[in-house]
Amino acid sequence: MRILLKVWRQSSPRSAGELVDYTVENVSPDMSFLEMLDVVNEGLIAQGKDPIAFDSDCREGICGACGFLINGVAHGPDPGTTVCQLHMRRFKDNDRIVLEPWRAKAFPLIKDLVVDRSALDRIIQAGGYTSINVGGAPDGNAILIPGPIVEQAMDSAACISCGACVAACKNASAALFTGAKISHLALLPQGKVERDARVVAMVARHDQEGFGSCSNEGECEAVCPKEISITNIARMNREYLRATLL
Ligand code: SF4
Ligand code: FES
Repeated sequence: MRILLKVWRQSSPRSAGELVDYTVENVSPDMSFLEMLDVVNEGLIAQGKDPIAFDSDCREGICGACGFLINGVAHGPDPGTTVCQLHMRRFKDNDRIVLEPWRAKAFPLIKDLVVDRSALDRIIQAGGYTSINVGGAPDGNAILIPGPIVEQAMDSAACISCGACVAACKNASAALFTGAKISHLALLPQGKVERDARVVAMVARHDQEGFGSCSNEGECEAVCPKEISITNIARMNREYLRATLL
């Protein structure tokens, strides 16, 4: 296949950026999207040009390092899929594909398709520790937790902190991410001890970092590669009200 790429190139946070055209020949449908970009970069390096900067690590959909907008959609056209798990068979010969970085005030651009997502780490950090004394390594069944609760907590814990939810939201809100992180601890007995302090601190940090408020648009859920449900945002709001009003 021939693919016509338009890629956002910006050499530093303060320099001007622009969309640059690249024609990529001989693209195999079996290549992953990032392998296709690797080939583009090998060509650029061979010509003595600056390769396109993009983030990746595991390339198997579990680390959350990858992510950019593909034709305006965070992580591209396949639902429940990270960029690293997207394959070129999803596209057609002579398709025009526009690549842009996540765009949000709280995610300052570093270079090309790479943004600084450390604000998400600071929200988690604000949640602090679970400080209950669990003694030695507990037996797996020592704390009985109903199956449906375990399932819900595990679903929330599936968030990989990629930031796609922020990029898709018109308010650049990180409510889905924060809701997932709050939920996966608040649902479990070990996390209930400090649930009030945790939700108040994490929501405050979310706002300090410059993320917007949630207005229930649902774009976050639509693009989340781990299909995190917006019920996590509702749970975060209930946890917050419980902590501040009761
Ligand atoms: S909620 Fe989904 S889209 Fe948002 S950071 Fe977590 S995995 Fe990524
Ligand atoms: S590189 Fe790890 S999730 Fe994509």
